[in-house]
Amino acid sequence: MPPPVNCSSGDVEAMRIVLLGPPGSGKGTQARKLMAERNIPQVSTGDMLRAAIAADSRFGQQAKEIMEAGQLVSDDIILGIISERLAEADAQDGFILDGFPRTVQQALDLSDLLDQLGQPLDAAVLLDVDFDILIRRLTGRRTCSLNGKLLNIYFSPPEELDACINAGGELLRREDDNEETIRNRLDVYRERTEPLINYYKKRGKLKTVDAGGTIDEVFERLSANL
Ligand code: AP5
Repeated sequence: MPPPVNCSSGDVEAMRIVLLGPPGSGKGTQARKLMAERNIPQVSTGDMLRAAIAADSRFGQQAKEIMEAGQLVSDDIILGIISERLAEADAQDGFILDGFPRTVQQALDLSDLLDQLGQPLDAAVLLDVDFDILIRRLTGRRTCSLNGKLLNIYFSPPEELDACINAGGELLRREDDNEETIRNRLDVYRERTEPLINYYKKRGKLKTVDAGGTIDEVFERLSANL
């Protein structure tokens, strides 16, 4: 059993990590599993932005077009969201950042914010997977309308897909999971987010996990690295 990354209270292991990786590498999937196992929140900027769109807030209306084009929402807006989220009570014993930071500027902002909060980052974990696999994971991704469970028409066991439909749910596809937007998102990742690999490597924070194989295999490798 690996030693705890950091301990702050009782049995709970404080763990402050960034999950890095291209769209479809499994950041959301693995973050949810880690959250369930370690009882620390997944902080997903993508989910927060989609919630703002669903609520039709002014800010959601601004983000909608940008996300549908596969581009990045401005660093300022994202920093505002993250600052508020990390100040919440449930983030005081650790967090899993999923989809943030995504630019070098965001990484610098995060570093300043965590300095102010006195909560140093433990690691940035890169989920490393072949680009060919990503397209299939993204075009096949569906979310069950009943419980938000992440599924995949190519990879999920049929009984999990059927369970959603038989319970009266729908398998929803994300607006940005069409081929054109996926291509844009992958280009944006290469250009704007990939430089973070070196950013964290230089600071001695980078861990790399092979994110090919099944969800459980990846989770085992991820857990062994933390
Ligand atoms: P966001 O929601 O963060 O999307 P993303 O980074 O493109 O990542 P994804 O959610 O597509 O993929 P994932 O790695 O989480 O994979 P998942 O686990 O779902 O961002 C969306 C948009 O919001 C951005 O384009 C941008 O516009 C904006 N945004 C967000 N954050 C921002 C920021 N910080 N700054 C600026 N703009 C921001 O898995 C994918 C599928 O594969 C699922 O179906 C899953 O079931 C399946 N799967 C996962 N792992 C496996 C496996 N091992 N085997 C088989 N199937 C698997």
